[in-house]
Amino acid sequence: MTTTGTPPLPKAELHLHIEGTLEPETVFALARRNDVALPYASVEDLRARYEFTDLQSFLDIYYANMAVLRTREDFAELASAYLRRCPGQGVRHVEMFFDPQAHTARGVPMADVVGGLTDGIDAHAADVSAGLILCFLRDQPAADAEATLRAAEPYLDRIIGVGLDSAEVGHPPSKFTAVFDRARALGLKPVAHAGEEGPASYVREALDELGVLRVDHGIRSLEDDDLVARLRRDRTPLTVCPLSNVRLGCVPGIGLHPLPEMLDAGLNVSVHSDDPAYFGGYADTNYAAARDGLGLTTDQLRTLAENSFAASFLDEATKTMLALRAREWKPGPGPA
Ligand code: ADE
Ligand code: ZN
Repeated sequence: MTTTGTPPLPKAELHLHIEGTLEPETVFALARRNDVALPYASVEDLRARYEFTDLQSFLDIYYANMAVLRTREDFAELASAYLRRCPGQGVRHVEMFFDPQAHTARGVPMADVVGGLTDGIDAHAADVSAGLILCFLRDQPAADAEATLRAAEPYLDRIIGVGLDSAEVGHPPSKFTAVFDRARALGLKPVAHAGEEGPASYVREALDELGVLRVDHGIRSLEDDDLVARLRRDRTPLTVCPLSNVRLGCVPGIGLHPLPEMLDAGLNVSVHSDDPAYFGGYADTNYAAARDGLGLTTDQLRTLAENSFAASFLDEATKTMLALRAREWKPGPGPA
């Protein structure tokens, strides 16, 4: 969040799909460069279609737009364009998701996907630290996830973790127990989307079957009191994305988002942007929504930012130092 003349609140971005930062202008620029035909008349026409009714209605257009990403350079530019925005929003550290299956299925080599994203990350290393989390597409067969992990093995020095995303309902975490076992054995940190559209039982499964260290979204955990008690006791991080939840109809409006209830329940929540090019804003806009739409206090915003560093996969000394910066942040004159 930025206020005039005041440095933004320092924060970590832990729930961001790098393909979800593909802005409509970039879709058109890359389509031209790569000679990809688009079924939209203009940038405005494309943007006008960003009226989603549920997760699947978003995923349909999200995967379709990825067709413009073809070369290592495209992936480098995608990561670079995102990371360039980070300092201005107080984002000091990013753990970004990427969906290799959505690219390898189109014939883009894993080497170009990972190589391009790491080129972008390396170009901005002086300003923001960043790591990659390889997501498996849960609506694809488990065997495809296993093949994807094998294809990624030569690049594991540049990948910090594995995640689970795409259409949730009907694809419970237990479908991926074996590939997560293998990923953990390779030293990768496990996280998973759960409890976004799917039930609280998927959050339990992600913990029990996949051994996740963070739950992405997890908003439906509130439907299960015993699960809430467990998440609170274990300080399990939940990466919550308010604007995404509103735009995908997971909650009926920003004022009804359960973030305040999650904080009041003592849950270890932080705020993130999911797919900012599609949902109306990056990290700072999600913090502003938490402040203006949900009435969170400056102290609560600081807590969210501290939690974001604590929940990251940074080393302990760096986490502590950055969390302290968040705790010491002062909003200055104007809105908090
Ligand atoms: N992939 C990109 N954004 C996603 C979301 N919000 N949920 C599940 N999969 C996704
Ligand atoms: Zn997500």
